[in-house]
Amino acid sequence: MSTPLILDCDPGHDDALAIMLAAAHPAVDLKAITTVAGNQTLDKTTLNARRVCTLAGITDVPVAAGCDRPLSGVLEIAADVHGESGLDGPVFGPPTVPLAEEHAVDLMHRVLVEGSEPTTIVAVGPLTNVATLLRRHPEDVSRIRELVVMGGSTSRGNHTPYAEFNIYVDPEAAAEVLASGLPITFHGLNVTHQALVTPDVVARFRGMGTQLGEVCAELMTFFASTYRRLWDFPAPPLHDPVAVAYVIDRSVVDCVRAPVRIEVEGAHTRGATVVDLHGRMGWAPNADVGLTLHRDRFWELMTGAVEHLGRA
Ligand code: RIB
Ligand code: CA
Repeated sequence: MSTPLILDCDPGHDDALAIMLAAAHPAVDLKAITTVAGNQTLDKTTLNARRVCTLAGITDVPVAAGCDRPLSGVLEIAADVHGESGLDGPVFGPPTVPLAEEHAVDLMHRVLVEGSEPTTIVAVGPLTNVATLLRRHPEDVSRIRELVVMGGSTSRGNHTPYAEFNIYVDPEAAAEVLASGLPITFHGLNVTHQALVTPDVVARFRGMGTQLGEVCAELMTFFASTYRRLWDFPAPPLHDPVAVAYVIDRSVVDCVRAPVRIEVEGAHTRGATVVDLHGRMGWAPNADVGLTLHRDRFWELMTGAVEHLGRA
């Protein structure tokens, strides 16, 4: 039985591969792709989602654009990481996958209402769309099986020394989503940095002999250049597919239950996720937190998805 899933994203190089994994694996039934402003402006993240779906032959999943700015404050993008297009590296042709007319939040709500069972939401961008859904339709909490987030960190940040980008862009949204009582899992940088796209992975993409495999190799080559330049990483971490892989196979990431709070005030730490792994604060645990990635299984799922779509 496959799990109905909504993927909320801000493509973004790693989002692109998360879309492919969610569309390809039979354990999940991708009902909708919703886009949010984050890595780039909403128009660009939405165009990129349509580009990826066109290239990968994902033609049966609606793509809808969502919120173009955080709940409060000004949008901060990551053009230094993902480039001016948000998906720099390979050249994409014009998308043939259409843009859904409805707003992403309306599409999310419709999928949840029409579902015959609770739907899983995987959010791999800022949580603005999810928070807006819960503001407009608080009753949808009962229609959501769980929320799996690529975001936060049990240790340091990336966009700032103590804040991970997705949470940093909209910490109020993250705090509201956390307070909603939804079953929530955070896969933060502490676990996604274990998913490094090493040269052997890039070689596996190229060795597939498909256009999709080649484009993935080019995407990762660009991603590697920014991670080397900005953070002196030897290889880029493939953040977002970790959240999708976890829905497909729980054994991919070892998690613990822990209290998580979102810092929304800190002069230097706004957007930090405060994860109390040792019960120092006396807070009630409110989330599952990813700690250890089982790499071989993860890469088997990720490369298998690209192989499958590339040959379809
Ligand atoms: O911090 C990494 C996260 O921010 C990833 O989801 C990446 O795509 C960006 O959205
Ligand atoms: Ca993302």
